[in-house]
Amino acid sequence: MTVDYFISQHSLAATVNYTRTCLTTSTTKNSIQPLESAIAGTAWSVMAQFYKLLPRIPRQEHPALLLGMGYNFEFYDGMFALIAGYVQMSMDEGDYTPRYRAMQALLQPFCSEYGIEPSRPIMKSHRQLYAEFYRSVAGEPLPERYPQDKANPWLNVSRQWTERMAQTLACPQGSSLDRAKFNLGYHWAVEYLSIEEFRLMRQAWGKLGIKASYLDAHCKVEEEHARRASEAVLALASPDDATIARAIKTHENDLTGYYRNLSGLLK
Ligand SMILES: [Fe+2]
Ligand SMILES: [Fe+2]
Repeated sequence: MTVDYFISQHSLAATVNYTRTCLTTSTTKNSIQPLESAIAGTAWSVMAQFYKLLPRIPRQEHPALLLGMGYNFEFYDGMFALIAGYVQMSMDEGDYTPRYRAMQALLQPFCSEYGIEPSRPIMKSHRQLYAEFYRSVAGEPLPERYPQDKANPWLNVSRQWTERMAQTLACPQGSSLDRAKFNLGYHWAVEYLSIEEFRLMRQAWGKLGIKASYLDAHCKVEEEHARRASEAVLALASPDDATIARAIKTHENDLTGYYRNLSGLLK
């Protein structure tokens, strides 16, 4: 079947407005307009299509689906570590002050993955919350390790795209400062697009009567993460920097490809 990626203009416009409203309380509200302009909307469309179809996936498929998608979500912990590393390693080409400001803003969403939020006691890591989500759906513990074989198509899609994203972030060409900017732009798109991603995910699982602290926790923190990601970009680059726009488009394309491949498994 050809997957229909159609999303009505009304709901796409609502997504754009919702996401933008979430960020307009920030002091960066005017500065991030060029960043938002780089977003084409393809990832929103494809995610909306996938999560619309999710309730149709047979129950017996849920453990494999959650294990496969869990790989992608845990990969983001590694991605944030890579991004922080690439920003810090621009120290030969960039000034200290913008770099430490970018790092402080960048580290907040990263720490959040491990249950570390400023002014709050240490909480469960997102991986622990995901394991609880998995257990409530699968009725068994989430495996400690991801299987190496190719038997799980959801896991195969996650591995394919996470490998590609890690390679993209390495930016083998160009200077270390350009690589740092690219990584910050990519990170901004990750956080910005995840606001809608987790809203859609929670809504889709909710239709199946499944609630999860993992989903609630993300819906609570993603707007804050996107604000910190904006601050990180603006610490090191001007908002209309061409490298930042290229990075945002690259992540949107990667996320679109990932969800398009997931939807392809529903043929
Ligand atoms: Fe997370
Ligand atoms: Fe986030």
